[in-house]
Amino acid sequence: MDRDQLIDLTRRALKLARDKTTDLAPSEYTVAAEDYTSADRLARDRAMLMASPQLVGYASELPGPGTYCTKTVMGRSILMTRIADGTVKAFDNVCLHRQSQVVSGCGSARRFSCPYHGFPETNSGSARLTELPATECAGFLWLALDPRRPLDISAHLGPLADELESWGIGRWSPLDEKVLASPINWKLAIDTFAENYHFATVHKNTFATIARSNCTVFDAFGAHHRLVFPLNAISGLDKVPADQWDPLQSMVVIYALFPNIVISATIANGELFRVYPADAPGHSITVHQNSTPLDLSDESVAAGAQAVFDYAHATVRDEDYALVEKLQANLESGARTHLVFGRNEPGLHHRHSMWSKAIAN
Ligand code: FES
Ligand SMILES: [Fe+2]
Repeated sequence: MDRDQLIDLTRRALKLARDKTTDLAPSEYTVAAEDYTSADRLARDRAMLMASPQLVGYASELPGPGTYCTKTVMGRSILMTRIADGTVKAFDNVCLHRQSQVVSGCGSARRFSCPYHGFPETNSGSARLTELPATECAGFLWLALDPRRPLDISAHLGPLADELESWGIGRWSPLDEKVLASPINWKLAIDTFAENYHFATVHKNTFATIARSNCTVFDAFGAHHRLVFPLNAISGLDKVPADQWDPLQSMVVIYALFPNIVISATIANGELFRVYPADAPGHSITVHQNSTPLDLSDESVAAGAQAVFDYAHATVRDEDYALVEKLQANLESGARTHLVFGRNEPGLHHRHSMWSKAIAN
């Protein structure tokens, strides 16, 4: 984002904080409990995800030619590698002999050989592995699960392609990855990132100590949206001329990418959440990663960055997801047929209207 854009967002956030309000949707939005519990909806959600471009990681996870990493996307094991000319390739990580996984983890290799019977697979487009469309865009790694789908990420992201690129998150050092298998619908998991109305209650002793509650700048970009969550410190900017502002010290920016990605960006962290449906409507998998512009070769810096990531992950797991596990149980109980998104939760309205539109096609 350029400085003018950041200053404009800071002005909007500061006004909301001063007026003790938040960006509002035009009216309330009602969703059927079944959207989170029915097998039919799960099948349609899975079809939508299968047809969508998949953001699977940071470009910095493949730092140079010959490097590789492995990803699991809705149960599919995928091998990604950067070949000699610097481009990114993806393959089903499935040996054509008897379907062993060929590679695990990440690293650097000139060639792979299957661990089961030792069949060789080259690193540059093997005849043995099935290739999937893959590319690098806006600093992230992308692929299509359906080999017949062309991958046009610039068109998919629209103006957010340049904005995400400008953060540099995808080129920052990847720090860690943690996986949460949770008894909640995948959309319910994503809902927890779509508003900060709950900060003062659910995160009373954690995020709410630094960030405002029920105060969000909302902007839609096609099927995606962006939320700005102001930090408590933003109020201090009232007394400082705008040309002296350091906007990134007073906000967290959340990108909600269609259909299943959340990116949380601050000056020191680029958190990535990939959320997938699991094998039942009430189960999901969240893959949580973090990247940082800090110099991780310094041990104390690396330990500090790891502590920040551990804290953020524990907060999501023990506060957000723990709470909505019981919400999922209520949805499945049939006690009430619907739930309501308030006008102060425009991110939820946007996510759900985009999903409904996509599955109706
Ligand atoms: S399964 Fe890969 S060589 Fe046999
Ligand atoms: Fe939360």
